[in-house]
Amino acid sequence: MAEVVVQADRRSEGILINDDWPGYRLDLFNYPAHYSGDLDCVIIPHGVIMDRTERLARNIMDDLGDHDIVVLCVLKGGYQFCADLVERIKALSRNSNHTIPMRVHFIRLRSYLNDQSTEDLHILGAEDLSFLAGKNVLIVEGIVGTGKTMETLLKHVEAFRPKMIKVAGLLVKRVQHSLACVPDYVGFEIPNRFVVGYALDYNEYFRDLNHICVISESVCFLAFNDNHCRCWAPVVTLLNYTDGLRDPATMEV
Ligand code: HPA
Ligand code: MG
Repeated sequence: MAEVVVQADRRSEGILINDDWPGYRLDLFNYPAHYSGDLDCVIIPHGVIMDRTERLARNIMDDLGDHDIVVLCVLKGGYQFCADLVERIKALSRNSNHTIPMRVHFIRLRSYLNDQSTEDLHILGAEDLSFLAGKNVLIVEGIVGTGKTMETLLKHVEAFRPKMIKVAGLLVKRVQHSLACVPDYVGFEIPNRFVVGYALDYNEYFRDLNHICVISESVCFLAFNDNHCRCWAPVVTLLNYTDGLRDPATMEV
């Protein structure tokens, strides 16, 4: 059978989800009953995420698999994608003739409003990344909005002189202005809507949902400024989801 060849320059596009994509009805899928009434639709079912991740793992192995890989997982939103991607890279490595040592390191990003009301990004767990020197580094992120956070993170990582840095983002949002940083490996390009599930949260909820979903728009809206990425997130049933609401001056990204 003919080999499927994905041209290198088409790799970073990801699967396109158009702005008019209505998603799938929730009742076509299984999801936690504690979220019933809070979700509008499934925009990416779990199985599709897994299939796309398998393909990304293969592209990553083709590009990086000649040298040790250090995976930098961006918590918390990237944890599920990172875990599944690493599983698939391990499976490919097990079944190939050359095995690739892989380390996984976790970092967390937090943004602070400084005294000029502009944003400072703090990278937790990245104080000493000297072990990255000469390594192939794969940064794994759940969602990329404007790309500014990723741009800052890349500058920080570059200072430790890795051999190569690549970025894998499961979701990339179509924002108005062009992205400051486009990942090398993109799972899906999605509309600029607030999505949850597969470790992406709204105020720490919905990480335990397997599919990527849009929250219900039943009540009212809140301008949600997530890391410069202004989009609309429903307050909805927010009464259910406001305990420990984030201090806007200190946001987990
Ligand atoms: N969902 C969850 N976290 C996010 C999003 C989103 O749509 N955009 C940026 N961070
Ligand atoms: Mg979040």
